[in-house]
Amino acid sequence: MLRIALVGLPGSGKSTIGRQLARRLGLTALDTDHVIEQRLGCSIREYFEREGEASFRDVEQAVIDDVTQSHNGILSTGGGSVLRLANREHLRSRCHVVYLRSSPEEIFRRLRHDMQRPLLQVDDPLTRLRDLYAIRDPLYRETAHFVVETGRPSVANLLNMVVMQLELAGVLSPH
Ligand code: S3P
Repeated sequence: MLRIALVGLPGSGKSTIGRQLARRLGLTALDTDHVIEQRLGCSIREYFEREGEASFRDVEQAVIDDVTQSHNGILSTGGGSVLRLANREHLRSRCHVVYLRSSPEEIFRRLRHDMQRPLLQVDDPLTRLRDLYAIRDPLYRETAHFVVETGRPSVANLLNMVVMQLELAGVLSPH
């Protein structure tokens, strides 16, 4: 049984790398935000607006507790999943956790036109991303067993870097 979780800021590539990594390893990829939306019956953005962030975090916590026990394969998590201690503990003790580290500036370039992420629908998203980074970078590091710098490589290169780290650590056997 192999369970690998990807953590990092919104837009750091968790979903894309999660899908590619799953394909490369012949595993299934699960995106916790999708599971949450299935449970909510609406988009995360709508739910945030209607019920507020704390209520969303409760649902997120329940989903993370479930999937870190039931899903075999790759888990892509929402960027705020590390905010709660319970989530950090569940992720770290039940999964091999990879932090895809991107700078706030890098993410700003990628997400400039994004309309879906509720936390970034503000006048100054770059300052928001810098604030999120300051709070969360230590939490991602605390949760993760591996840190991979995303920088600017292509998806294929980034995927190779993740696989190489996991092979070096003996999580994956080299082929
Ligand atoms: C959030 C990130 C989102 C989603 C929700 C809250 C956050 O996931 O879970 O909008 O707090 O950073 P992504 O990291 O996939 O964008």
